[in-house]
Amino acid sequence: MSGKVVSFINMKGGVGKTTLCIGIGEYLANYCGKKILFIDLDPQFNTTQSLVNEFNLEEEYLSNYSEGTNQRTVMRLFETQQTIAKRLDLPEPDDILVHLNDNMDLLPGTINLILVETDKDGSKAKKVKKFILNNNLKEKYDFIFIDCPPTISVYTDAALIASDFYLVPIRIDRYSILGIKLLKQVIDRLDDNEGIGIKPLGIVYTMVKELSQKTVQLKTTFESTEIVQEIGMFENMTLQVNDLLVGLQGNIASKYKKSREDIDAICKEFLERIEKYEV
Ligand SMILES: Nc1ncnc2c1ncn2[C@@H]1O[C@H](COP(=O)(O)OP(=O)(O)O)[C@@H](O)[C@H]1O
Ligand SMILES: [Mg+2]
Repeated sequence: MSGKVVSFINMKGGVGKTTLCIGIGEYLANYCGKKILFIDLDPQFNTTQSLVNEFNLEEEYLSNYSEGTNQRTVMRLFETQQTIAKRLDLPEPDDILVHLNDNMDLLPGTINLILVETDKDGSKAKKVKKFILNNNLKEKYDFIFIDCPPTISVYTDAALIASDFYLVPIRIDRYSILGIKLLKQVIDRLDDNEGIGIKPLGIVYTMVKELSQKTVQLKTTFESTEIVQEIGMFENMTLQVNDLLVGLQGNIASKYKKSREDIDAICKEFLERIEKYEV
């Protein structure tokens, strides 16, 4: 088995990256028997908050995982080497991964990511890939999902360098076209510099409401742009589901009848799209 690393990315915030990342991951794990590792590279660490809450690990996260030299967070991957002579080795998976259930693990994020110094020699941007490769994590997981911040940063670079695919959640609005151009530029630049060979899995519309005539127009214009055609559009989308926004049962899509159908269809299409690249 060679697992696939997928970045959930968009240069815009609030487009449903985190919700889709958790939604697809949880569904593939709990209903399709896939092994999933979530890596939270967003300093807003919403994926972590959501999963920690879902698995009643708030206490552990706050008291044991979130800080200190033995913390279980992605921060451990980005620590700087102390001296030239003393190389700081990357941590072992067992030291930093949090076991959620039989099919799901999490490498938690932390707000402290905002404190990481700049990546002077470009080595930080390669840490996630190194961690995955050194520990053969692609043999242990069917999918490694990376939740990315909506910024051009060492974290987006680290995610893209580590990934086989990227998936772009997007809302149908006029800023989407601008956002997608910026994202494509970031990826093309990295591909030029590093030859990362990342492939587009597609764009997924999120939080779709009833389509007015204007929205349909916007959608048509968007889909006819060259960049969008290059990346490709998922046929399935997530509808605006208010329970997911305010629901007492957290923000996991499969928990709500309305969003469960969406996520089921998206997961099937997700697996088909990955398979197409295999042949
Ligand atoms: N399908 C949906 N229906 C209703 N609300 C949603 C849906 N998907 C996401 N949301 C809500 O929209 C907000 C932004 O989503 P989020 O996944 O956090 O976006 P991002 O990670 O891109 O910033 C959150 O409050 C989330 O609960
Ligand atoms: Mg997010």
